[in-house]
Amino acid sequence: MSDHLPVARSVILGTGSALPARRVSNAELSETVDTSDEWITERTGIKFRHIAGPDETTSTLATDAARAALDAAGLTGGDIDLIVLATATPDNTFPATATKVQAAIGMTGGIAFDVAAVCSGFLYALSVADSMLRTGMAKRALVIGAETFTRILDWEDRGTCVLFGDGAGAVVLGLETAQPDDDAPRGILATQLHADGRHHDLLYVDGGPSTTGTVGKVRMKGREVFRHAVVNLAEVMEQVMVPLGLTSADIDWVVPHQANARILDATARKLGLPPEKVVITVDQHANTSAASVPLALDTAVRDGRIKRGDLLVLEAMGGGLTWGAAVVRY
Ligand code: UT7
Repeated sequence: MSDHLPVARSVILGTGSALPARRVSNAELSETVDTSDEWITERTGIKFRHIAGPDETTSTLATDAARAALDAAGLTGGDIDLIVLATATPDNTFPATATKVQAAIGMTGGIAFDVAAVCSGFLYALSVADSMLRTGMAKRALVIGAETFTRILDWEDRGTCVLFGDGAGAVVLGLETAQPDDDAPRGILATQLHADGRHHDLLYVDGGPSTTGTVGKVRMKGREVFRHAVVNLAEVMEQVMVPLGLTSADIDWVVPHQANARILDATARKLGLPPEKVVITVDQHANTSAASVPLALDTAVRDGRIKRGDLLVLEAMGGGLTWGAAVVRY
């Protein structure tokens, strides 16, 4: 009987993104850091990153991305009753940065909170918002990934400081009911999340309110994170695709977390996905943590690569370790 009932899914009504004004090349960075364009390009694929100025914060970038996503959806802040914002670099320890965005877009009711899953944050936020929409807790959601990660970098540590940038990306989700005979329904078709706290010391910040009382700086064992990333990402992508009967040939675009072009290549190779199906923005934005997946998504939507009806796989892995993936028909 249930096979014949219409199914309500969360659909992406619009996307948006925002970047700080200042764009810094590898060459400019190598004036102050003991590194080179050659090393960064070869090891990571990164060419540029945007670095927030004093007036640009996680909430201002998030608000700009949210406004762009609302415009794309033809909606205003008053149409939204849920904000889930993923960040590891909130404006303040509390209240949630989501509440600042809520006030800035003129949304006076509903629910607004942050989630912390670092680079996987957007996948976590998307999954939470999707669940809340489908269980009737809200009707339309803004899901945002926003970071000013360069504020927590140790500029003396060339192994991390060249890798990250600032930015924000957002999507507006609404509920849509598909008929059971619709063989290509829109929306979020599957999500899968994971965490393994045994590896919390591979990528972490060495401070915090309840430990040092300071904000702290990013620390990473890059090589080990790399190794886990390729294995975990290939595995979680299979976990979302296989139950839907999907193979690599069915996927139009992979929109991955943008940490390192070599991780993207290795993961695509493991799954037999041609590299031309992978959206790559790491060269332009570096690793923007929770912002990277929605930033890449919005970039590819706006430049015309991703079209309505395309089948997407989103994926990310980050500190925790945390990782996740989603299948979405855009
Ligand atoms: O977003 C969350 C997920 N994060 C990631 O996915 C990051 C995963 N890890 C990585 O992307 C890579 O491990 C890195 C890009 C961070 C590093 O690449 P690697 O090939 O693992 O290099 P390495 O850390 O093993 O360092 C190799 C060499 C070292 O020199 P020696 O000891 O071989 O002489 C480093 O000191 O490269 C040196 N090095 C640098 N040289 C120039 C490290 N950083 C730099 C630098 N410029 N910025």
